[in-house]
Amino acid sequence: PAAPLLAPSLLSADFTRLGEELRMIESAGARVVHVDVMDGRFVPNITIGLPVVEGLRKATALPLDCHLMILEPLRYAADFVKAGADWVSIHQEADPHLHRTLAAIRQAGGKAGVVLNPGTPIETLVDLVGDFDFVLLMSVNPGFGGQSFIPRVLDKVKRLNALRAARGVPFFIQVDGGVSLKNAAELVRAGADCLVAGNAVFKAEDPKAAVAALLREMGA
Ligand code: DX5
Ligand code: ZN
Repeated sequence: PAAPLLAPSLLSADFTRLGEELRMIESAGARVVHVDVMDGRFVPNITIGLPVVEGLRKATALPLDCHLMILEPLRYAADFVKAGADWVSIHQEADPHLHRTLAAIRQAGGKAGVVLNPGTPIETLVDLVGDFDFVLLMSVNPGFGGQSFIPRVLDKVKRLNALRAARGVPFFIQVDGGVSLKNAAELVRAGADCLVAGNAVFKAEDPKAAVAALLREMGA
């Protein structure tokens, strides 16, 4: 298996200097950038939209991982790929037509992911295996950065890893919310391939050292 990836979440970055933040995480060794898109409807917060993603695309060569916390994601999913997103993930809870929306993301040229809230069982994905490239397991309730990791998600990662092995389909597993030096190593051991980290990177005293420390914990 490839080395695990760390995806710093720009939600916790300084929005007045996103270009510098991108250069900082690049030089620290991050290989993906996580972009949290919220609509104030699916989640209680409003954040980043298409014009900002277009700007980020011009500012970095790193893959952009757009996590859509929006209702009716089919309306926008392909537009995010056109704006420069490499990965686009949509919430199971926000879309009654996941199969269609995942296909639209792939058709636009993106990697398609399904996100599960902490209370949504992995069994809801069984009949979609093969139709997505990755699964994002939320380890907080989406909407805000800086929340505490929900410990039982660790077992969910293990069960999803087992389901993946049983099916023999090579999707990757991402975990988002409350990731820190305290849980990064065990998440990777449980089967996570990509960890998202917002506060643990951008609110650290030395963000560059924080990226390096997380990567070390992950064995990356
Ligand atoms: C939460 C977002 C996360 C968030 C993670 O709704 O999806 O990506 O930025 O931030 P931390 O790592 O601070 O929990
Ligand atoms: Zn996210």
